Amino acid sequence: MAQLWGGRFTKETDKLVYNFNASISFDQKFYKEDIEGSMAHVKMLAATGVLTEAERDEILSGLSGILADVESGTLEITSEYEDIHSFVEANLIDRIGDAGKKLHTGRSRNDQVALDMRLYTRKEIVNLKELVKELMVVLHGLMKEHIDTFMPGFTHLQKAQPITLAHHFGAYMEMFKRDYGRLSDIYERMNYCPLGAGALAGTTYPLDRDMTAELLGFKGATLNSMDSVSDRDYVIELLSALSTIMMHLSRFSEEIIIWNSNEYGFVELDDAYSTGSSIMPQKKNPDIAELVRGKTGRVYGALMQMLTTMKGIPLAYNKDMQEDKEFTFDAIDTVKGCLALFTGMIKTMTVNKGTMESSAKKGFTNATDAADYLVNKGVPFRDAHGIVGQLVLYCIEKNISLDEMSLEEYKKISSVFEDDIYDAISLETCVEKRETIGAPSRTSMEKVIAVNDEYLKGI
Ligand code: ARG
Repeated sequence: MAQLWGGRFTKETDKLVYNFNASISFDQKFYKEDIEGSMAHVKMLAATGVLTEAERDEILSGLSGILADVESGTLEITSEYEDIHSFVEANLIDRIGDAGKKLHTGRSRNDQVALDMRLYTRKEIVNLKELVKELMVVLHGLMKEHIDTFMPGFTHLQKAQPITLAHHFGAYMEMFKRDYGRLSDIYERMNYCPLGAGALAGTTYPLDRDMTAELLGFKGATLNSMDSVSDRDYVIELLSALSTIMMHLSRFSEEIIIWNSNEYGFVELDDAYSTGSSIMPQKKNPDIAELVRGKTGRVYGALMQMLTTMKGIPLAYNKDMQEDKEFTFDAIDTVKGCLALFTGMIKTMTVNKGTMESSAKKGFTNATDAADYLVNKGVPFRDAHGIVGQLVLYCIEKNISLDEMSLEEYKKISSVFEDDIYDAISLETCVEKRETIGAPSRTSMEKVIAVNDEYLKGI
């Protein structure tokens, strides 16, 4: 049990208390950030005259040695230390002696851990953005490929109006663009350095907080020392953005599962992204999509945990805040895994264009267009709606589609129908006539694809 704070204690910490209190099993994940933060701190202490240049150099080389040894595996991070901060400091003192004891001058573990967590999550936001971008690049390619792939659009999971697969994918593209933007916003807002806040009230040393902020790539120093050590808003914002990403991936997964089902057959997942059954030899299951859908709950859980942990904490630091790590790390790792797998899954799946198109032809997806045809011939929309309703009923009884009716049959229900009805309700017409911004026609989609081309080049 190696602790930094034994001086005022007369007894050893109870073993159970020690284990309960320790965070080394999970905060070792940011050993690198902890060492980088210490390096910047020491450089600043020397620049302001709190440490000598010789002391700075000794500490810096000791810290570099620890980093190199941890990375190469020669130095193991063990549970003998309470947390990663104690591990680094104790190792430094072992290596360089007295100069190492000066590392923690003008610093508390409260601002140290606040810094480490920011550095770690900031780095992961960059990784997450890259993964969202890779997914968008694949989706963008699929949109270009499927600009003429007709399919039914659904409401209530009932066939509604014909669209294209490019249009359907385009909806997810918009969601992921917003996700990417949210991650960028969080990065901007959290990119301020809490180091120098001390335990809660700053320090009496002449620290140059702007210098440490700059050395660590922050936009500046945080402006209130109490808030600096007790702010975890950025963790909550990140978990919220991650929950939204998972919600999007989960909806998309649900569609892939439906499309990949034997009944739909719109897509077929690649063998490399499917799994089999131990008893039913014929099965090829969409387990990856199901797992992504399932893991959504886990990420939502992290958000709820963090909101709840923070809600009753008086200013400033309280130990509750140590609970900011495990679920957050898990959520970040989960989302990174899901994004990468999902991207691979949609990139490799086969689209059954013919099945999608014939499904769009069934189910009266052109009924709205038949009504619009009548409106163009002067029939009020409400009457047109009623007439097409009768047509649909007639077709259901005869088990045919609207374009399989003869002109006489049409005329029996309304004399307004002419020979041009067939062209007006063809799948191509139904899609191509929808030319407003954001609609599925080829011309509309080409405009959106051009916008997205620029967007992807700019991020
Ligand atoms: N392990 C602690 C955490 O993660 C580090 C800060 C400890 N500070 C303290 N005052 N006990 O929050």
